[in-house]
Amino acid sequence: MKAKILVATEKPFAAEAVQKIKQIIDNAGFEFLLLEKYASKPQLLEAVKEANAVVIRSDTIDAEVLDAARNLKIVVRAGSGYDNVDLNAATSRKIVVMNTPGQNANAVAELALALMVYAARNFFDGSSGSELLGKKLGVHAYGNVGRNVARIAHGFGMEIYAYDAYCPAEAIEKDGVKAVSSAEELYKTCRYVSLHIPATAETKNAINRALLEKMPPKAVLVNTARREVINEADLLKIMEERPDFKYLTDITPANDAELKAKFPNRYFSTPKKMGAQTSEANNNAGIAAANQIVDFFKTGNTKFQVNK
Ligand code: 3PG
Repeated sequence: MKAKILVATEKPFAAEAVQKIKQIIDNAGFEFLLLEKYASKPQLLEAVKEANAVVIRSDTIDAEVLDAARNLKIVVRAGSGYDNVDLNAATSRKIVVMNTPGQNANAVAELALALMVYAARNFFDGSSGSELLGKKLGVHAYGNVGRNVARIAHGFGMEIYAYDAYCPAEAIEKDGVKAVSSAEELYKTCRYVSLHIPATAETKNAINRALLEKMPPKAVLVNTARREVINEADLLKIMEERPDFKYLTDITPANDAELKAKFPNRYFSTPKKMGAQTSEANNNAGIAAANQIVDFFKTGNTKFQVNK
């Protein structure tokens, strides 16, 4: 029997990427199934019924979805963060979960810099803005995206700092980036901070008032990581207290309407998460996901498994 590989993406990949994924699945002799732009969970529950493998993006894979997917062996998150997958539920059902690290990192990094430029130019309101040249940038977490942000920011002539509890200082400094030893130091030092921490129990609400109030005058916080890492009540307070503080995000906060109404010139959220939404990133992540699934079924390769 042919293995059935479902691509289930509420936010679709570029058509070209879907074709490439299909080609890989077809060439491997597997069956390709597609569910895009679904509007409700029951549609996903129905689509996963027959699937042996699922490729997802930020789609939620919880115990209910896994229970509906009786033949499922593997879920591949075509992207980096896998906080949208219930890993314990997958592990207890002996389902392998993988991600495709690094594949969309440049796309997210380019957006982070674009948001910094948008902030520096006062949201293109016609007034005289400022430049990124010579400004201090704090990269919070030096993973694949953080590294790409630093690479591009070098081109802008920014002075770059990074804090990452899990990355050795030498690995940061070899890129011409100053490693600092705490988040506090990063926020105290840098006018621009770009967030690249994953959403975990440890990082939830971690970006709070104590950190944000340390930022220098004309502070700009850019979040292309996850909504959950921000303490949204604290952020609102900082925005109220500091008329010099700007927040730009690729992940719409729960208090979006309030922030928009109160701070139209200092708060911006993309209408939909756009960081990884380029044809290049879709191709990279989609192709990697398809290849990882084929490899898993043909050779048992679990290199990118995240629930080992
Ligand atoms: C990721 O974790 O890879 C990014 O946040 C991209 O998410 P997306 O696939 O939903 O655009």
